[in-house]
Amino acid sequence: MDIQFARHRRLRQSPNMRALVRENHLSTNDFIYPIFVAEGHNIKKEISSMPGIYNLSLDHLEEEMNEVVSLGIKSVLLFGIPLEKDECGKQAYHDHGIVQEATRLIKEKYPETIVIADTCLCEYTSHGHCGVIENGQVLNDPSLELLVQTAVSQAKAGADIIAPSNMMDGFVAAIRTGLDEAGFEHIPIMSYAVKYASAFYGPFRDAADSTPQFGDRKAYQMDPANRMEALREAESDLLEGADFLIVKPGMPYLDIVRDVKNNINLPLVIYNVSGEYSMVKAAAQNGWIDEERIVMEMLVGMKRAGCDLIITYHAKDAARWLRNQ
Ligand code: PBG
Ligand code: ZN
Repeated sequence: MDIQFARHRRLRQSPNMRALVRENHLSTNDFIYPIFVAEGHNIKKEISSMPGIYNLSLDHLEEEMNEVVSLGIKSVLLFGIPLEKDECGKQAYHDHGIVQEATRLIKEKYPETIVIADTCLCEYTSHGHCGVIENGQVLNDPSLELLVQTAVSQAKAGADIIAPSNMMDGFVAAIRTGLDEAGFEHIPIMSYAVKYASAFYGPFRDAADSTPQFGDRKAYQMDPANRMEALREAESDLLEGADFLIVKPGMPYLDIVRDVKNNINLPLVIYNVSGEYSMVKAAAQNGWIDEERIVMEMLVGMKRAGCDLIITYHAKDAARWLRNQ
């Protein structure tokens, strides 16, 4: 008697057979490209730990946007680098702050492009924390007020989506109310719902000069050891009115992406963060890995884990590779 076994290889015989049974696909529609806009003139400064990623002043933003748009990338996520920082992060909610001005410029030249404004204070505060400080602690509710002001000024400037990342409790509810009261009930909130206190943000903090001047972010961002807590964070943001949820970082947290996907019915975004990008770039520059294959495998792995959208510094490269496939 023959022993029965499955012939899985029937479906792997050729490129076209494999294409027939492929379960997950990448497209430029999936990508959100982060851009660091810097106050000042003629700034195009490569971030040393993030080859290919720049701090750009407004006079260089147009060339960047031309490239992004011509590659078919439809959304960008803006981070601001102000000239001056202070205790309360005033430049975050200044109507002519750098993100507000960059938003106006992009919406004027590329009205179709979706501008997502990262809403936080840490790039704007002298102490580098994501909220207001008293006695060495980050205060929750007073920070919410500044966050709401930031979101409203970003919406006024034309932002299509508000993406609050500061991990204060109740930020989605507060921003939803603030936006609604200011007449922006149509503007969605993409919440950094599940954000871990991660070492993978290191290169970003170089880029944004936002390393906390004392302590760390563990009293507001999540403990990397926790899984069940991620669902509590995601559920509360759903109830508070979030329109999208973000899990961050990406690669080491794919289990969390799947958990959130299985339990919460909202568009799910993964943030493939700076440290993940830097590791790939460094290894590729050493000739140790095949950058294209590694990046595409990582990105499709994120989709397979369950996300709908990917915030990634690899977006432009990935769009080029997709085009040539
Ligand atoms: C701001 C913010 C951070 C990132 C996105 N928004 C940094 C942080 O929380 O320290 C990290 C992004 C990255 O590492 O690419 N709150
Ligand atoms: Zn922050």
